[in-house]
Amino acid sequence: MRILVTGGSGMLGHVLVRALLTSHEVTGVSKNGNYDTRLCDLTNPEEVKKLFSGRRFDLVIHTAAYSDVDGCERNPKLAHESNALTTKYLAAACRPARVPFIYISTDYVFDGRQTALYSEKDLTCPINVYGMTKLEGEHYAADAPLSVIIRTSWLFGPGNPNNFVNAILARLRSEKAAKVLADQEDSPTYTRDLALAIQKIGQYAESFSKHNPGKEFHDTFQVCNAGVTTRFEMTREIKRILGLREVRVEKLDRLPSEHRPALRPRFASMSTAHYEFLFKTKLRRWQDSLKDYLSENN
Ligand SMILES: NC(=O)c1ccc[n+]([C@@H]2O[C@H](COP(=O)([O-])OP(=O)(O)OC[C@H]3O[C@@H](n4cnc5c(N)ncnc54)[C@H](OP(=O)(O)O)[C@@H]3O)[C@@H](O)[C@H]2O)c1
Repeated sequence: MRILVTGGSGMLGHVLVRALLTSHEVTGVSKNGNYDTRLCDLTNPEEVKKLFSGRRFDLVIHTAAYSDVDGCERNPKLAHESNALTTKYLAAACRPARVPFIYISTDYVFDGRQTALYSEKDLTCPINVYGMTKLEGEHYAADAPLSVIIRTSWLFGPGNPNNFVNAILARLRSEKAAKVLADQEDSPTYTRDLALAIQKIGQYAESFSKHNPGKEFHDTFQVCNAGVTTRFEMTREIKRILGLREVRVEKLDRLPSEHRPALRPRFASMSTAHYEFLFKTKLRRWQDSLKDYLSENN
């Protein structure tokens, strides 16, 4: 397949591009052109049109986003442009040739008041700008005749020193005691596991488009590692896996709001039953994925 991956330099995007390159022709694009990606500012509709002109993609995977949750709160215009409008332009570009379009979304479309796992059908009600603009993106994604929304949560993996696991690792290795927030419950997700799921869903969407000419197709999947935890508990697990006995991990209930302007859903964990049923697979426990990641990267 000829596949366009937006956000090809991002934490998820660069892992996804590498995984796809083994059997597909992949074009990765990003805003600044890192990780061998092509430069393209997706907030500019003319640049998006140019990206598609004279080229036929079999699948478009839109991972690009403004994913800094507090940054979005401080700059809602950029959040709207990066998360909602980019999706609108890409979905429109996919329409004429009926290119299957996958949009990566987030558990932050939920308000976090539920105590049971969120299903794809539960009411969305974001409580911060990031979640609102990602939800707008979900609505725009459905403008493509063959669209799939994949919601995921709390990513970790190689390539981004600021992701939670990488940042906390640096602290555990340099500090005597680390205070870590325990105010949110969620499902950590390893980018490699998510990339594998995206590939399966992509093949499914492409095969649907080939075998059902003229038909529309819209679906939403939730993909995250199994289990629910807090950042505090995850830090203790990292310490345990790596045998870092000297450092103390202490629980922090909340941060002052000037440090964290965006509200977070208290509980945003999602059911992955729809994905697991359709693809006859089981997503790994976050602890097992974390162990793999730590042994691959340390
Ligand atoms: N991180 C998480 O914990 C998490 C949780 C749930 C869902 N998600 C979703 O998962 C997806 C991937 O997240 P991530 O953490 O991997 O993202 P990331 O590391 O922040 O990377 C974002 C990517 O988007 C690109 N980008 C941003 N604005 C762009 C624009 N205007 N034009 C072209 N490219 C642009 C960036 O390019 P440059 O590098 O050149 O700026 C970068 O490649 C996102 O859709 C995010 O909403 C993430």
